[in-house]
Amino acid sequence: MGIELKEIYDGFAATYDENRGLFDMTGVFEAFYHSLGQEKGHLLDLGCGAGEPMARFFIDHGWQVTGVDFSEKMLKLAARYVPEMTPIFEDMRMIDFSKNTFDGLTAIYSIFHLPVHDQEKLFRQIHKWLRPEGKALFTYGTKEYTGFDEFEGYKKFMGQELFYAHTTPEKLTDFLESIGFDILSKDYREIGGETFLWVTMEKRSVG
Ligand SMILES: C[S@@+](CC[C@H](N)C(=O)[O-])C[C@H]1O[C@@H](n2cnc3c(N)ncnc32)[C@H](O)[C@@H]1O
Repeated sequence: MGIELKEIYDGFAATYDENRGLFDMTGVFEAFYHSLGQEKGHLLDLGCGAGEPMARFFIDHGWQVTGVDFSEKMLKLAARYVPEMTPIFEDMRMIDFSKNTFDGLTAIYSIFHLPVHDQEKLFRQIHKWLRPEGKALFTYGTKEYTGFDEFEGYKKFMGQELFYAHTTPEKLTDFLESIGFDILSKDYREIGGETFLWVTMEKRSVG
């Protein structure tokens, strides 16, 4: 299995400044911010990394942000770039919050590193943590990235073998709808030369 993912991300943190801004997602997160329709709120960013661009953007727009990451070195960068963010140094599978805590949630290039059964457990937690009509934006792996309809395995990224997992977009959205989300958008986007599915969903207010 090689070195653990969090150690790989600790390593990436060392060269973070060189690759800063490689993936420009401005359009995506501006659209998500406007879809939330509120001036202020509380965002949870899962796999926040160095706190850019998501935490920085929401804090600059007056939101409170809590960021979770299991790479200590990434969180050290976040403390430098986004000192206003509340950091939680933990595996996102191990955290818990009260029901209806957050107005919005992002998981950008992070959930795809969990096995599919852990993704499903996390999506149920996300449903609990979001308030009714709260929205989430996340990036999901598909065959456009891995070459397979469904995948659990390793792929090379920046010279390292990283674990990725995904089911099909249809199974994903069926599952999310079955646990109480409405899918607002799902778009394939090529950013920084890599294509992923970007999903926006809302916690259904009844049911
Ligand atoms: C590709 S980076 C993306 C960082 C940031 N979201 C961005 O868009 O730039 C993935 C991040 O997720 C974190 N991560 C991956 N799996 C995690 C887990 N199980 N728990 C907490 N953090 C995790 C990594 O440490 C890394 O900082």
